[in-house]
Amino acid sequence: MAKPAAETETDSEFAAVAPAAAAQSEDRVLDLSLRPRTLEEFVGQQRPRQILGMSIEAARKRGEVLDHVLFSGPPGLGKTSLAHIIARELRVSIRVTAGPAIERAGDLAAIVANLEEGDVLFVDEIHRLARVVEEILYPAMEDFRLNIVVGKGPGAHLMPLPVKPFTLVGATTRAGLLSAPLRDRFGQHYHLDFYNRDELANIICRSARLLGMRIDDDGAGELASRSRGTPRIANRLLRRVRDFAEVNNAATVDRQVALDALTLLDIDSCGFDRMDRGILIAIIDMFDGGPVGVESLAAAVGEEPDTIEEVYEPFLLQEGFLARTARGRVATSRAYTHLGRTRRGTLL
Ligand SMILES: Nc1ncnc2c1ncn2[C@@H]1O[C@H](COP(=O)(O)OP(=O)(O)OP(=O)(O)O)[C@@H](O)[C@H]1O
Ligand SMILES: [Mg+2]
Repeated sequence: MAKPAAETETDSEFAAVAPAAAAQSEDRVLDLSLRPRTLEEFVGQQRPRQILGMSIEAARKRGEVLDHVLFSGPPGLGKTSLAHIIARELRVSIRVTAGPAIERAGDLAAIVANLEEGDVLFVDEIHRLARVVEEILYPAMEDFRLNIVVGKGPGAHLMPLPVKPFTLVGATTRAGLLSAPLRDRFGQHYHLDFYNRDELANIICRSARLLGMRIDDDGAGELASRSRGTPRIANRLLRRVRDFAEVNNAATVDRQVALDALTLLDIDSCGFDRMDRGILIAIIDMFDGGPVGVESLAAAVGEEPDTIEEVYEPFLLQEGFLARTARGRVATSRAYTHLGRTRRGTLL
């Protein structure tokens, strides 16, 4: 069912790279080469992997189209990788687009109308689809038809246009922002959680093999415990450590090499970088421990509120350094201890 119109994994990824992001492009190229290609290669997320594997196999056996799939979870946990894996395991083409990239309803209608039977349509950042664009998807997902408006003014009417059955795979870092009608039309919803240390160490060892570098178990473990539960960060740290090892003529990355490199990179024992620490320090020093609203916090650290909520907060919350209350964010006693601050007043 391969068709030239469908973007390949590589094309679509490179199309998304802004020219100004040259500094990050090496990371992106490596990101692609390290991306797991099959469910078997995909480490961790056992429950989603099992259920997904089962439904892919069942769909293939029955010769049916896979039910629409929604992936949610913080950045870098494998949502895009899984979308590509689904298409590969189903042996169909994947068409890749993203919520903010589709401006008009007609653009999405054209994409859907051009899909071949069984194809995967991957919509990244699906929570950012405009409402009028989103509405195109309702009948397309439910009945595989597009409602085309024919005519103008009082004589205008809807004409149903059948499309070939397809699988919509949506990804979002903010499942809560998805409208209920859209969310309800997904037959399967998987929320990806942060990875544990062993899973990350596994990913690091696999990536090291692919990059042709040597790392021992202690070195991999050290990197794993400072990767914020996130494979993308694990791979990024690994590449920086590889640079460090090369410059310092270290043949194998052991614990000491990993520690020296991480110190240079300013990654602390919890895996926090400057921004993670900056957020906690701002809450403690500028807002007296909180509660503080995300807007004020963002202004204090010079970051976008969305980025704080999507990228930084989830891990700080999960690890118990930050708590969310009705009145805003507060630093927990764990944060005080980690940063060597003493708290005035009561402890959380
Ligand atoms: N389970 C996994 N096993 C091995 N590597 C993984 C896994 N999950 C993610 N990775 C690695 O992390 C990188 C980032 O994953 P991916 O792009 O799929 O994340 P994402 O959830 O789509 O992130 P974003 O929300 O930023 O789009 C991949 O290129 C891959 O190398
Ligand atoms: Mg992605």
